[in-house]
Amino acid sequence: MTLNLKDKIKSQLPKAALNALELCSKTADDNGFKIYLIGGVVRDLLLEKKIIDIDVTVEGNATEFCHTLSDKKICKILQVQNELKTVKALFKNDIAIDFASTRQEFYPKRGHLPVIARIGCTLEEDVLRRDFTINALAISLNEKDFGTVIDYVGGVEDIKNKILKVLHDNSFNEDPSRIIRGLKFAARFNFHRDEYTKELQEKYINTQLHDDISWTRIKSELKQTFSMNDAKVYDMFLINDTYKLVYGEKPPVKGLEIKTLVDKYSPDYVWLVYLGTVLNKPEIIEAFCLTRPEKKIFTDKNTLLKGDLNLKSTNYEIYKFFEKKSIEAVLIYYLLTKRKEPLVYLEKLMNIRVELKGEELMELGITEGKLIGKMLDEILKRKLAGTIITKADEINFVKSETK
Ligand code: CTP
Repeated sequence: MTLNLKDKIKSQLPKAALNALELCSKTADDNGFKIYLIGGVVRDLLLEKKIIDIDVTVEGNATEFCHTLSDKKICKILQVQNELKTVKALFKNDIAIDFASTRQEFYPKRGHLPVIARIGCTLEEDVLRRDFTINALAISLNEKDFGTVIDYVGGVEDIKNKILKVLHDNSFNEDPSRIIRGLKFAARFNFHRDEYTKELQEKYINTQLHDDISWTRIKSELKQTFSMNDAKVYDMFLINDTYKLVYGEKPPVKGLEIKTLVDKYSPDYVWLVYLGTVLNKPEIIEAFCLTRPEKKIFTDKNTLLKGDLNLKSTNYEIYKFFEKKSIEAVLIYYLLTKRKEPLVYLEKLMNIRVELKGEELMELGITEGKLIGKMLDEILKRKLAGTIITKADEINFVKSETK
């Protein structure tokens, strides 16, 4: 039976987006193009989720189609990728739509980025290169069958049954980042992998693991997945052995512990608090091409774990141990060691500062640079111990020391 989602498209897309699609539809018909909504947007329409990105595929050449649209002043072309023949276009009321040409891809080397085999293939050939059946659906946008779902792979049924299924035996081998995508979609929609997909994943992780792969893709998927701050995702990441993909070590940590800390301390790099409990291998950290503050999290984590923090440390020693370390690294240290000091630092000590400035100390009679530093440190020690609290206390202390 044909399934038509015209009503869902009308009710779930903003009016301006619907207008843009209707103009695309008319232009496609008038100029002999076949165009489709494709991938995530179709899945999300069926699941009645919020539509974030609109992807349209043109059976043939998307660049030609978009130029036809822009010649008619229907859209502005923002970006063209010549090799892939993809176009980002802007319609009235700031509606952005990504257009792609149907394409076949092949993987010259397992785990590496694919190369294009053919642009302008059939829609069926295009969907068969994709990751999961739920992402391999299309909706026709041409007027005569506007809204009709085209399902070559049983994706509609899988969405109904909440199943994640890859399209072929080689899927993870070609692109291991799909293992993490599977985790992301499973958590986002509460779906489960079917037995076939589970087996393929286990086989890849236990017998076919390879470190010469596209780490940028893996990183991007891990970032999206762990940024969800979902305790269940992390537990699944450990239970399903997915952590082995990054050559990680399984820590005695539960997702809920991480989520609780993240909710309480709001670190900037949520995904790295999760991943940092698992990822240790320097080569992989390097391969992720992290930004400077992201890299610092791993360097700080190593420094903390190698450091020697006495069990009977004073507040001052605890402060010095964690001072200038990124919050993410302090949280990872806590999760891996379960010591109380990182929490003492975050809860009580981290924001304690000496209020007096160097110039003020000079006005109080301390003129030598070295002595200024020493005095500031003495004040800090007392503030951390709680014997000095206010700025007035600081001044009184300095006065008593210089009498
Ligand atoms: N895709 C794939 N293999 C990948 C990444 C993407 O086959 N490793 C295909 C899927 O068909 C997917 C589409 O490319 O639907 C677009 O990818 P992307 O934008 O990453 O995913 P979405 O499905 O749109 O998901 P999200 O909602 O997370 O953006």
